[in-house]
Amino acid sequence: MKPWLVACTTAWLLSTALVVPEHTGIIATPSAQHEQRRFLGPDGDYLPFDTDAAVLEFLSTAEEISRDRIPVGVTRPQKVMLEKDGIRAWASYKDVDETFQGRMNDGSYAMNLRDYFMFERAAYELAGMLGLDNVPPTVIKRFGLKRAALQIWIENSMTELDRANEGLGAPKALQWTRQWQVMYLFDDLIGNIDRNAGDIVIDRDSWKLWMIDHSRGFQKDAKLRNTEKLSSCSHDLWEKLQALDKEEVAGRLGEYLTSYEIDSMFVRRDALVEHIQALIDAHGEGSVLYDAKP
Ligand SMILES: Nc1ncnc2c1ncn2[C@@H]1O[C@H](COP(=O)(O)OP(=O)(O)OP(=O)(O)O)[C@@H](O)[C@H]1O
Ligand SMILES: [Mg+2]
Repeated sequence: MKPWLVACTTAWLLSTALVVPEHTGIIATPSAQHEQRRFLGPDGDYLPFDTDAAVLEFLSTAEEISRDRIPVGVTRPQKVMLEKDGIRAWASYKDVDETFQGRMNDGSYAMNLRDYFMFERAAYELAGMLGLDNVPPTVIKRFGLKRAALQIWIENSMTELDRANEGLGAPKALQWTRQWQVMYLFDDLIGNIDRNAGDIVIDRDSWKLWMIDHSRGFQKDAKLRNTEKLSSCSHDLWEKLQALDKEEVAGRLGEYLTSYEIDSMFVRRDALVEHIQALIDAHGEGSVLYDAKP
């Protein structure tokens, strides 16, 4: 997608987002579920992996037995079927590594935007550090002379675009809204310029919102794009956001991000903390922060 189109799409997506209702009700705590999340295989049965570590191990060590083009997406993503010990699962495959430029829809001309497969892994790692459980497990793997990001495929899912086309509405408005709130915060933290309706993958049964496609995240732009929409946050995420430590991030993400990209992220982190603190000061903690429990 061209940068200006990216910006238009993002603006469209943000403008169609739901208004945040009263902060009552509860959703599952991402951190509490993180180690227990399960993934479906291509036949609709659960894969026999109880932890993220097991999924990562499978992605890293399973053999590729076939490959398909994904019919949408500009980074020419592919889908590979992996097999190990008789277990099969699909994974998305992305090896894009490009720098591009173009006019954004706010009229500015953006230079040196990066589309980089390594950012997929950085997003997964960072989500884990924040206690978020909605970025699918992702590894970097060597394929001959190339390296690529491999991400477990979310079966039985639709994209936000499919949801809109099918005219489906989320059964639990509050849970749905909060998942979008998490996404707004995450995208601003990672400087994601490319969240579009194809990058929101929804479990058709649970309506869990999975965030995918972060290869255009981690831009060096310090600007926050979602603050008008970002009005609430779980206590847990708020605490983890404030506690995010640059040295620790550099240790865990330094393989995927430059120090400049990490510095930019921390400028945005500080601005996000300021934004949420201002909301708390203005409306009270109870209106902004919520407990997320199963
Ligand atoms: N892990 C996954 N689980 C389920 N579906 C996925 C997954 N990864 C990718 N997809 C599907 O593949 C499509 C293309 O993937 P992706 O968005 O990463 O490609 P892209 O070329 O970067 O897209 P864009 O057009 O946003 O630049 C997604 O819209 C989604 O439908
Ligand atoms: Mg995409």
